[in-house]
Amino acid sequence: MNLPHRPRRNRQSAAIRDLVRETELTPGHLIYPLFLQEGEANTPIEAMPGCQRWCVPDLVKEAGEAHALGVPAIVLFPRIPDELKTRGAEACHDDDGLVPRAIRALKAAHPTLTVITDVALDPYNSDGHDGLVSDDGRILNDETIEVLCRQALCHARAGADIVAPSDMMDGRVAALRAALDGAGHTGVSIMSYTAKYASAYYGPFRGALDSAPKAGDKKTYQMDPANAREALREAALDEAEGADILMVKPAGAYLDIIAKLRAASTLPIAAYQVSGEYLMIKAAAASGWLDEEKIMLESLLGIRRAGADMILTYFARRVAEKMA
Ligand code: PBG
Repeated sequence: MNLPHRPRRNRQSAAIRDLVRETELTPGHLIYPLFLQEGEANTPIEAMPGCQRWCVPDLVKEAGEAHALGVPAIVLFPRIPDELKTRGAEACHDDDGLVPRAIRALKAAHPTLTVITDVALDPYNSDGHDGLVSDDGRILNDETIEVLCRQALCHARAGADIVAPSDMMDGRVAALRAALDGAGHTGVSIMSYTAKYASAYYGPFRGALDSAPKAGDKKTYQMDPANAREALREAALDEAEGADILMVKPAGAYLDIIAKLRAASTLPIAAYQVSGEYLMIKAAAASGWLDEEKIMLESLLGIRRAGADMILTYFARRVAEKMA
């Protein structure tokens, strides 16, 4: 048969498929989110099979092993004891708190590991919201930003390489940049959760940290899943305010947003494959319905193909082990 072109010629051997492959997925593209807690024991997270809340010594070990396998960076999520949760979230900027202690231990043991911290109040806030809550239940934008700046400075003092504001308050990137620069931390980067959607995919994460909102939801600050143009608006603001990396979250159901931000910005784009995405793959594999390893790699490759330079994923260590 005389066809104008036969695309299958480029698929006929593994060697040719290697040559024509457009997208690469390596451990070097991955950021490993790790949960941590006080004490000397680890606690498995029920709704996130394979994940633990690590005590600091074992967190250092787990991060070091992932790093040795080629994962360049981790991001920390603390489970703060209930007695330290307050309406002002003051524990988030305590220099002797769980996160700064963990950063110091990680940097001492693994100087080349990039340590990223989450900047938001929810683990520290008795209301469970990312921002401060007024007596009548409103999330207070500008008051929250002052606390976020104190939190980021605390992380920077402890040695964090990148701070990642996940709170979705307006204007926080500019305020964080000014606060960091004002204190001499000009080298600390900001990875902004630029387009963070009000998503049900965060359910397992909130269970892991006991950080679900006590009242209401996060719809007045996180984005409406129906909106794409608004993500471009957020990206333009974050870029103008001095963000170093823009993030889209969740990833799998928001591939169009990743592609749009990739096209609209010259900044690196990160995407977060969140707890619910991880759980769906784990649950389908546990029932024998899907091949976990293949779906893990395909889901991440799809996120890369959409335009993400880097991916935050609970599979980071597994991927690195598979490729070692
Ligand atoms: C909170 C925060 C959340 C996640 C990362 N930072 C949850 C939320 O916004 O309620 C979710 C991550 C995941 O689901 O894996 N600032």
